Amino acid sequence: MELDPIAADMLHVDAVISGRLHSGVPLVGQISQYILGAGGKRIRPKLLLLCCRALGCEDKRRLELAAVVEFIHTATLLHDDVVDESSLRRGLATANAAFGNAASVLVGDFLYSRAFQMMVEANSMRVMEVLAEATNVIAEGEVLQLMNMHNADLTQTQYTEVIRSKTAKLFEASARVGAILAGATPEHEAACSRYGQALGTAFQMIDDVLDYTGDAEMMGKNLGDDLREGKATLPLIAAMERSTSQDAQTVRRAIENGDESQLAAIIAIVQNTGAAEVAMEAAHAQAELAVAAALELPDGPYKQFLVELARQSIRRKN
Ligand code: IPE
Ligand code: IPE
Ligand code: MG
Ligand code: MG
Repeated sequence: MELDPIAADMLHVDAVISGRLHSGVPLVGQISQYILGAGGKRIRPKLLLLCCRALGCEDKRRLELAAVVEFIHTATLLHDDVVDESSLRRGLATANAAFGNAASVLVGDFLYSRAFQMMVEANSMRVMEVLAEATNVIAEGEVLQLMNMHNADLTQTQYTEVIRSKTAKLFEASARVGAILAGATPEHEAACSRYGQALGTAFQMIDDVLDYTGDAEMMGKNLGDDLREGKATLPLIAAMERSTSQDAQTVRRAIENGDESQLAAIIAIVQNTGAAEVAMEAAHAQAELAVAAALELPDGPYKQFLVELARQSIRRKN
């Protein structure tokens, strides 16, 4: 594949990110630097920039708005790690483990509100509408997930509804904002939105598989967090459908009790029943939907990169 066509833009985005973390309150800067400086794949800003550039956009506001979607994402991570009681993120102790739950929640709020200040500066009502709605839907998705906790009867449809909201919505919004900035036709804007939604869905499905089959070192996150939280994700839903009644019972009880001590047994069941493959296949189908949407965009290196990003997303190990 040719050289990353948005590498230069991404350097600018990182500069905007660090430049916009200033606060008169030292702990705010310290915690936000801590999590944002730890890296991360920056996939949402990339998505925004690629859609924007694929549609011929030169608008400088793309760099600020790319930072905005990363801030919104980072705020959700700060809150998510408190809720999930996670201890490892981006290869480091989570902010809640290092600084405490209260500080993490409050700095998450700071990042949300900083994102909103920056988005107001961009002065586009459509962009504000899309991002405000996305932020609202993410919050709903996290609450919906909370309500589904320890529910071993969760269906694949209900699972998909949660991941569409908590993850795919921000992917969709990022891609769509790129198109809006480019002054895209309604058809191109819709193609970008569809691309983002499908990629985000694939991305979370893979994340949920990696929670059982991945490598903690490579992911920079611990395995088994989902089981401990009693999350009925697709690998477990598929495992229960495909296993003997005894194994299905083991999975069911582990979900109901959030029993992390069963992790090794559950991993074996997920592998042996082919449930990991079933979930990978579902992710693959979503990635192909994303590819089909990308193919509706004008030809060029950015479009090619969007196609590659979708295919890569299902091979990812981190
Ligand atoms: C983590 O997102 C949360 C999910 C939606 C699975 P990323 O995997 O994009 O996290 P970073 O930003 O690269 O750390
Ligand atoms: C993603 O869900 C969280 C958000 C989109 C807010 P997970 O809980 O699966 O993400 P990780 O595994 O902690 O990154
Ligand atoms: Mg989590
Ligand atoms: Mg996860």
